[in-house]
Amino acid sequence: MIIKLIRTIIIVLCVSCANRANDPDTSLHEHAVFPVGTAISANNLLADNPLREITLDQFNSITMENDMKMRSIAKGPELYRWKIVDSVVHFCENNDKRLHGHVLIWHSSVPGWLREMDGQTDSIRNFTEKYITKYVTRYKGKVAGWDIVNEAISDSAGTMRNTFWLENLGQDYIADAFNLAHAADPGAVLFYNDYNIERDTVKLHATLNMIEKLQSENVPVSGIGLQMHIRMDVPNDVIAYALQKCAETGLQVHISELDIIFNKHNDTKAGGIQQYTEFTDSMALAQGDKYKAIAEMYRTIIPEDQQYGITVWGFDDGGSWIRSFFNIHDWPTLYDDSLKRKPAYYGFLNGLHSE
Ligand code: G3I
Repeated sequence: MIIKLIRTIIIVLCVSCANRANDPDTSLHEHAVFPVGTAISANNLLADNPLREITLDQFNSITMENDMKMRSIAKGPELYRWKIVDSVVHFCENNDKRLHGHVLIWHSSVPGWLREMDGQTDSIRNFTEKYITKYVTRYKGKVAGWDIVNEAISDSAGTMRNTFWLENLGQDYIADAFNLAHAADPGAVLFYNDYNIERDTVKLHATLNMIEKLQSENVPVSGIGLQMHIRMDVPNDVIAYALQKCAETGLQVHISELDIIFNKHNDTKAGGIQQYTEFTDSMALAQGDKYKAIAEMYRTIIPEDQQYGITVWGFDDGGSWIRSFFNIHDWPTLYDDSLKRKPAYYGFLNGLHSE
């Protein structure tokens, strides 16, 4: 009984501490020596919108959640829709934000018209080469880094994922994409980006082996992106191990899509398993600790000259992809549904700088 009472008092004190620190002048990116970014949609970024205001105040790096994907850009073999990206580039230049390019080659963003060309390998190769060259050339010097290839390694087995790209272009599609992007903008940081590599050691090592092989063939890979869509129970020492291994590559390291959930899922659409129906104060505090630990581990394990930064995959629970994609109710981000800062915000902020 007494223990319960003490626990409640501690929780109330912590939550009110967090609220006291609800200083409108606090800015996440000003607390870090590396860029702190968010994913956002162009709609929210470019319109008069509270999400845009928070982005302007809190983050100095921006990733388009969907607007720079192939499906959004390539409407036909010779039909490119650049208008939105042009506006985003303009926004970033005017507001001194870094733009991270997400993503050139991803099996989940193959446009319908291209998928229909399945098997016509010459035409697919021709389109893909032109696409990468045109896209990266157009935004040369304006996009700081690109996710060149996303999610090319399969889950658990550590083999190449069987995708539209692998089937049509063979495994050289990865090296080719990096080479073309580098030729178009030699100054951009070029990433291989994947999920679960912070927790699935087989996948981590398969990724590192692939990168090592690419480097031995002089393919210009210059960064590794750990998406880090994690759950509360992914152990910190496992994450630390993955970060250490990534640091040892000497490449730029990006935590590229951070969010932290409570419920389980099986990595597939609508594959959520609702275990927690209520977001309690103690869950909120534990999530704050987890965000803090991630930021701290990144800051202390990744050498400063390899710190490309940490990007959160959206910052408001209401807008997070998690709920609609997995069909679960969860609370993965830094702000709640009414855009109020959660303990996750303060934990993250405190992890970004040394005490
Ligand atoms: O905009 C259309 C809307 O017009 C339509 O009515 C509606 C009906 O389905 O779909 C809307 O598009 C959705 C789009 O998000 C914008 O909300 C797509 O269906 C939906 O598939 C798409 O999901 C995105 C997903 O990637 C697939 O591209 C998520 O927002 C986005 O968060 C997610 O991001 C990925 C990263 O790119 C790679 N790593 C994993 C990460 C999470 O899955």
